[in-house]
Formats: sequence, structure tokens, C-alpha cells
Amino acid sequence: MDKILPSLLAGDFANLERDIDRMEAAGADMFHLDVMDGQFVPNISYGLPVIEAISKVSNIPLDVHLMTLQPDQFIEELKRMGVAMVSFHVEATHHPHRLIQKIQQNGMKAGIALNPHSSISELEYLLPDLDFVLIMTVNPGFGGQQFISQCVDKITELEGMRRAHNYQFDIEVDGGINDETAAICRREGANLFVSGSHLFKAEDPAAAISRLRG
Ligand code: DX5
Ligand code: ZN
Repeated sequence: MDKILPSLLAGDFANLERDIDRMEAAGADMFHLDVMDGQFVPNISYGLPVIEAISKVSNIPLDVHLMTLQPDQFIEELKRMGVAMVSFHVEATHHPHRLIQKIQQNGMKAGIALNPHSSISELEYLLPDLDFVLIMTVNPGFGGQQFISQCVDKITELEGMRRAHNYQFDIEVDGGINDETAAICRREGANLFVSGSHLFKAEDPAAAISRLRG
């Protein structure tokens, strides 16, 4: 099923509860939370204490996107906060399969994020065990960037492998998602749509969310 996930990175950090309420009322399915460490990506966003505060006021599930080195150190805490889905970057750990198992053993859905330069082949032997794959359609680190169109081929390739092997993972896209780019990604097989600046800029977020559903 298609889901729309507003990225709170584009929200007003001094008024997060207001923005959470607004996006929930507009029909958001889950919140996408971007954790950046200033090492794996050249920016720092927010960390576990902010996620905990968000978890207390949000009424919809949370999807945490770890753009950090050593992502394994956060898993137990995220479970304690009731997080539903966690993704980490294949480029950020030497033992992605072990980390998938750890996330799932902690009762959460496990996803792997791929930077624009990384190939689907990196994931070939992980696909049977993954709950979702996050195809980055911008370079991670900042909201408001332009969609990188060559990443679309990776969605096509992934969808082909999913069909061929009857794998169950979802395909999430993140970065520069608006009405036009969501439609392109959906056509190739994506079903989880993260959108930050586009949704938060919208005057009528409910209409913007329903347009993103296609
Ligand atoms: C980028 C983040 C994205 C970001 C998307 O590093 O992973 O989740 O918030 O923002 P937009 O939709 O503005 O590109
Ligand atoms: Zn993200």
C-alpha cells in the first residue's frame, strides 16, 4: 500500500508539535525522522532526545532514517521509543546483515538506504531479509534539494528483482519528492514516499498529501 511520510526535517523545530498535529490532520501515514551526525553527512539535524519527544506527541508510526556512522549503537533506544521502522546506510557499516537482524530482533522493520552513487547489487544478498529499501533520490544531508533522475533506474531494477524472487520488501524514495517525481517513482514500483520541503511549503497540506498519493 502507498504511504506518505512527511519529513520533519522541513518542519519548524521550535514548533514541532504544531507541525506534527498539522500533518496528522492532513492525512500523513507516518513521520520520517532524519538523524544526521556531521560525519557520515555534512550536517547535524537532531538525535535521540528529540525523537523521544516526537514519539510522545505523535499518533502515527515513526520511520527513522539514520544518516550516521555506527548506526548499530542506536537500535535499543529506538525500540524503547516505540519506533516502527529504521533504515541505515549500506555505506555506513561493515556488517549490514547483522544490523538488519538486530533491528528485527528488536521488533522493528529494517531498511537499507542507498546513496545516489551506490548500486542495487550492494543489496543482492540482503534483499530476502529486508523489510524495505530506501532509495535516496538526493545526496543525504539536506532538505530542499533537486531530485536526481538517474536514481529512478534503481527503482526499476529493484522492482524487477522483487517480482522475480517474490520478495516482500517495500520501496521507499526520499529526496526532492513532489507530485511529478512521486508519480515517476510510483510507476517504477516505489510505495513509500518521503516528502519534506514540498509538503511543508504547501498551503493546504491535506490536498498536497492526496495529490502525492497519485
Ligand atoms: C535528506 C533527507 C530527507 C529530506 C527530504 O538527507 O534524508 O528525508 O528531509 O527533504 P526534501 O523532500 O525537501 O528533499
Ligand atoms: Zn530521509
